[in-house]
Formats: sequence, structure tokens, C-alpha cells
Amino acid sequence: MKIKSQLNRIIKKALESANIEASDVIVSDATKAEFGDYQFNGAMKLARTLRRNPREIALDIIKHIDSPIVAKVEVAGAGFINIWLDDEWLSNSLNSIIDDKRVGVGFIENPKRVVVDYSGPNMAKQMHVGHLRSSIIGDTLATLLEFLGDEVIRQNHIGDWGTQFGMLIAYLEEQGEEGASKNLQDLEQFYKDAKVRFDQSEEFANKAREYVVKIQQGDPHCLNLWQKFIDTSLSHCEEVYRKLGVKLTKDDVRAESFYNPQLPKVIKTLEEKGLLVDSSGAKCVFLDNSDTPVIVQKGDGGYLYATTDLAGLEFRAKELKANRVCYVVDARQGEHFKQVFKIAKLASMVGEGVALEHIAFGTMMDKSGKPFKTRDGGTVKLIDLLDEAVVRAKETIKKRNSHSENELEKVSSAIGIGAVKYADLSISRESNYLFSWDKMLSFDGNTALYMQYAYARIQSIFKKYNRKLDGKIVIKDSLEHKLALMILKFEDTLIKASIDATPHTITAYLYDLVTLFMKFYEQNPILKDGVEEDIKKSRLLLAKLTSNVIKKGLEILGIEVVDKI
Ligand code: ARG
Repeated sequence: MKIKSQLNRIIKKALESANIEASDVIVSDATKAEFGDYQFNGAMKLARTLRRNPREIALDIIKHIDSPIVAKVEVAGAGFINIWLDDEWLSNSLNSIIDDKRVGVGFIENPKRVVVDYSGPNMAKQMHVGHLRSSIIGDTLATLLEFLGDEVIRQNHIGDWGTQFGMLIAYLEEQGEEGASKNLQDLEQFYKDAKVRFDQSEEFANKAREYVVKIQQGDPHCLNLWQKFIDTSLSHCEEVYRKLGVKLTKDDVRAESFYNPQLPKVIKTLEEKGLLVDSSGAKCVFLDNSDTPVIVQKGDGGYLYATTDLAGLEFRAKELKANRVCYVVDARQGEHFKQVFKIAKLASMVGEGVALEHIAFGTMMDKSGKPFKTRDGGTVKLIDLLDEAVVRAKETIKKRNSHSENELEKVSSAIGIGAVKYADLSISRESNYLFSWDKMLSFDGNTALYMQYAYARIQSIFKKYNRKLDGKIVIKDSLEHKLALMILKFEDTLIKASIDATPHTITAYLYDLVTLFMKFYEQNPILKDGVEEDIKKSRLLLAKLTSNVIKKGLEILGIEVVDKI
């Protein structure tokens, strides 16, 4: 339910009836229970422009508020308007969404075409934890926007081009068919071995350099080797996506090499717009009189990461016709994106109306506060990390309940992978992220397991009840009022998360919802003897809607629920 926009309209109408002109009317969630459910704090601002007493304005407004949504309004303090929602309106709204697959969430009014650029692993290396955050946050963002009605185009901007590929394919060739397929199992090692060979043998190094040029010239033999290498590397990534439940497929890959033919045109455009400066042979763009230029072409003719991103920006705006482009990339690339976004707009490669956003995220740290590494200092491979998550989840749940072998596999995968994803999504994305197994696999606190456990517990109530749910929700006390309102706030929460691109808005909401439900369940028993039949049914339906929201919320986060833990 879009509650906030409905309340905004109600206040707007009241302002009109009171002959008060106001441009933006925005209600906010009440910060304390005694302030009601929502608050409107606009009277103070209006008082300044109208040179009137804010309390008088607030009193004027509430005289004209008349809506079945609102049960009570009150002016408090310097001119705050506290708003309480009507129980009957809340229960009617809930009763109308009991069988709704979208749990009352509608579609946004102005859908956009959004490109979400995420994951972006480098093909020369094994995917590591650094790519975890991009894949998880990006996938959630794409799923969320799609659910709300945007048209989403996923783009996996994989790094498949650059000088290191000369060395890699020369080494691939040297290994022969059999050796290569064996050694490519571990790309990280393959890269290291190739580098050793490169440093040791002048002859090999020359061949590697020659192959760089040959790939660029489109030599069929070299391109063939290169393609083979990329295919293997990509299939490693796909295995990770599958384990992680990330929806990226081969069709979403639009690699750096795709933009290669466009790069001379990028330089030409910048030249025509008068943005290029020659600086000791390199072609550069200087922004805001900054001393450090953005280099777009090196003296030897080679192009850079920024050049490819400029070509990508133009493609996304003009060919894909996106109105919003989201780059889910490490915060340390902030300066890079600021610069390329600016250049793309200055050069009219991207229209003014297109929103360009760097969806930045922090670094993954270990307990000691250092970037996440293995015990011997190497980078942790994603696939090992995910396997470990599932093993640890299995240990955790084995202790609690008996599961068949099959069930155990399914449940531990949902819980292990869910824990890793939720831990990542639940912190505000720009903060660095402290990786802790114990914390993420805890039944208490803001964890996936807490939500999954609540879901399973509600399912066990239905199982025990063992009848078709009927009847209707009737709100009887303030806890039920709060729970009802919380369920209906799901849509406003998703809308906020989609605008700010903040998955943690959703996890924070789910945490509040489940905590509230647990309190409700403690105080308002459902199946206990002596509970009146219509109250029992009403509470069962509240439980059902709560579990529907948990399920849908987790689904958007890419996390599975299970009926029994
Ligand atoms: N391959 C890059 C990296 O690992 C990420 C690519 C992000 N997307 C982009 N359009 N630059 O750092």
C-alpha cells in the first residue's frame, strides 16, 4: 500500500481547503508511539514564509482533514501534526490482500528503463570476495526494480581485454590442449604460472607482446585462443552465480571487448567537443581545472578503462535507451565514475535527463579490520567461501532438528547462502563490511536465519492448525494495529529502497517486522485453548500476511525460505 503518498494527498487537499499554498508536502514516519503513526512537520516551514504562527497553521490544516484512512489527528509542540491511522481502514486493506501474490505492492507510476551494471569480474583471474558484494547488491537492485515495474537491463561488464591476455593465451597455447584444460581449473594459479614464464623467458615475453597486437588486429588463431580462455573463465563465474542464486546469464554479458570498435569514435567525439588536450603524447580531458587529467588514450595509442566506460555510457544511453544507469561498483572507483559521468554529459554522449549513479559499496574486512584474505594472505576464492557457508549452516541446523539427508542439503544451502547474502545486504552499503561467520549464522539479531526461522515457525502454526484459513482480520489492540501497519508499509519500504538503491532499507524493515511479530505472537497466542474462533482466525491471517511479506522480501534479496529449520 502506498500509504505515504495517500497521506501526502490528504494533507495537500486540507491545505487547499484552508487556502494555504504549499509546494512540497511530505509526511514522515512518527519517531515515537505517542506521536501517532505518521507526522507532518511542514507547518513550521510554512510559518516562516507566511509569517504566521505555526500552531495556528497546523490547527487550520487539521480542521480540513477528512478521510477514512485517518482516525485521529493532533497538533503537538511547536506545530507538529500527529496522525493515527484508522483500524478499520487498516484491516480492510489487509483483508483485500490476503491472497495477493504481490502482498499489496503495486507498480510505480513512472517506470523507467534501467541499466544495472554489476558483478563485472575480470577474466584473467578467479572471481574473489571483492566481486561478491557487487553481485549480491546488484542482483537485489535489479530484482527490486523489476518487481516494482521498471524495465531492467542487466549488464555484466566483464574485464576481458587488455595486455595481460597476450601472456595468458601464449601460455595457453604452450600448455597444449590437455595441459591447458587441467591448469585452467585454477585461474589464479594459471595467471601466476604464466607470469613466471613471462618474467623468465625473453622469447615467451616477446611472443606474449606479439599476441596482444595480434588479438587487437583480429588474428583468427589468437582470437580463437582468447575466446577459449574467456569461455573457461566465464564458466567459473557461472558456477559461482548458480551457487549464489544470482540471476546473471551469458546473455547479460557485455564485455569490455564489445566496446573496442567504438573507442576511436569516443576520442573523435571528445575532440570535436573541444574537450581533448594533448599532454606529452597522451590524450587527456581536464575537468574543473583539475591538475590530474583523465587519460583516454595513451601515447602508444592504447585505450584505458575510462575510454571503455565512456563508450559504454553512450551505448547504454543511445542504444539501450536507458533513463537510469546504475553502476554497482566498489567505492574506491568513486573518482573514476564521477569523472566519466561528467565527461559523458559534457560531450553529450548521454542526454541530460539520464540519471547516472555510482552505487558504491565498501570493502569486505576480516575481524582484525583488514581486507578479507586467506590465512596465508592470498585472496579468498568465492566458491570456497560459499561452500564453507553451507557446511557451517549444516552444522548449525543439525543440532536442532532432524532432517532427511535431502532436506538437510536444501535447508543448509538456503541458510548458508542466505547468511552470506543477508550479512552483505543488511549493512549500509557504503560502509566497510566486517565478515563474521558467527554473526551471520546467528538465530538472533538482524540475520537471514532470524527471518527464515520466523517464517518456518509461522508455517508450523499453519501445519498444526491444519485447516484452510478463512475469516477476516479485525484489529483488537495496539500491537495488532502496529503489526497491521507494518505489513502495509512494505510497499513504501520497497519504493524507498529502489530510489536510494539501498537493500539495507529492506532488511531493516524485515527485522522490525519480525521483531514486532514475535512480540505480537508472545502476547496474543494463536492456537491456545480458549482463544475465540474469530480472534484465532484474525490472528492466523495476520501471521499469514507477515509470512507472505517475509517470503517476498527475502525473495527480492535473493534468499530462499524453508518450511522447517
Ligand atoms: N572489472 C571491474 C573491476 O573488477 C569492474 C567493472 C565495473 N563496471 C564498469 N562499467 N566499470 O574492478
